[in-house]
Amino acid sequence: VTERRDIERILADPGFEVPAAPPGDRGLAWLRATVSRFVNGEAHARRRALVELEIARLDPEALRRDARVRTEAVLDAAEGRVEAMTAIARRVPLAALAHALGVPDERLDAVVGDAIAVAPAYPTGATGSTGEGVDAAADRLRELLDRGDPEATAAAIAVLAQACEATAGAIGNAMFVASERPELRGDAGALLRKTLLRASPLRVMRRVSPAGEPVTLDVEAASDGAADGDPSMAFGSGVRPCPGAAQAVALVGGVLDALLPRCAVDPDGLAWADLPALRLPERLELLVS
Ligand code: HEM
Repeated sequence: VTERRDIERILADPGFEVPAAPPGDRGLAWLRATVSRFVNGEAHARRRALVELEIARLDPEALRRDARVRTEAVLDAAEGRVEAMTAIARRVPLAALAHALGVPDERLDAVVGDAIAVAPAYPTGATGSTGEGVDAAADRLRELLDRGDPEATAAAIAVLAQACEATAGAIGNAMFVASERPELRGDAGALLRKTLLRASPLRVMRRVSPAGEPVTLDVEAASDGAADGDPSMAFGSGVRPCPGAAQAVALVGGVLDALLPRCAVDPDGLAWADLPALRLPERLELLVS
């Protein structure tokens, strides 16, 4: 499905469900089976309320400041250049989120590392050769973010797992857009709006039709025809839009506040990830002044 109005109609229709995760009692399978993201109907509504409760405690202004300060610390230590996807785009937003979720400072690096291990496998459940490491990381997150109830614990982990790749992609894509459109460098807000409209990290969303057929919603193709003032489709809409959009915008904004005045993209240090569902740099070398 490649037309905006068709995508929005399907996202608003509860008859089109998300592909459900199979049951699982440990590791990544447990996480996917227990979050809101891969379930429909009443269980989705109940779990979504839990994740919204976690997210309601995450003040966007505080996240933005924290993300800026953490990014500046990385740049100060960078000695002229930094690979931003690893050192900043994934780590900084997750550290700010984990801190705001109540993870103590001495556990922050471990939690961020485990969330980064889980995140790429979380959408599909496919881990390839990294399965044991991903499962062990998910089990450690389950212990460290224990909320006393499995669905509430999974909701806290979901904040990190959902945020990681999409937020990193928004940061990397925004730096790329800024390198192509230098006039946008002075305004992080305008740059991010342009990025979410033209270079959204999520390329496709998936649903199952009422007849049981898989449906691919091609947000990337639908965005091709967008006019500059159109609202972005980056955060979804309808039955289950992203509940962390304000936090995502704040985190990306805070990172860009620190990057834009001091960093330029090294064109030889940019490589794109080859992924069907995501658009993001695999490698993004920045020259730091
Ligand atoms: C730029 C970064 C982000 C983008 C583009 C994004 C986009 C999306 C989209 C499109 C969905 C819906 C997927 C679908 O219906 O198939 C979604 C779901 C979700 N997002 Fe985000 N997201 C981002 C960052 C975040 C952050 C920072 C958080 C948490 C603070 C978050 C939490 C969630 C959760 C919990 C869901 C599942 C909602 C549900 O199951 O009903 N996201 N996101």
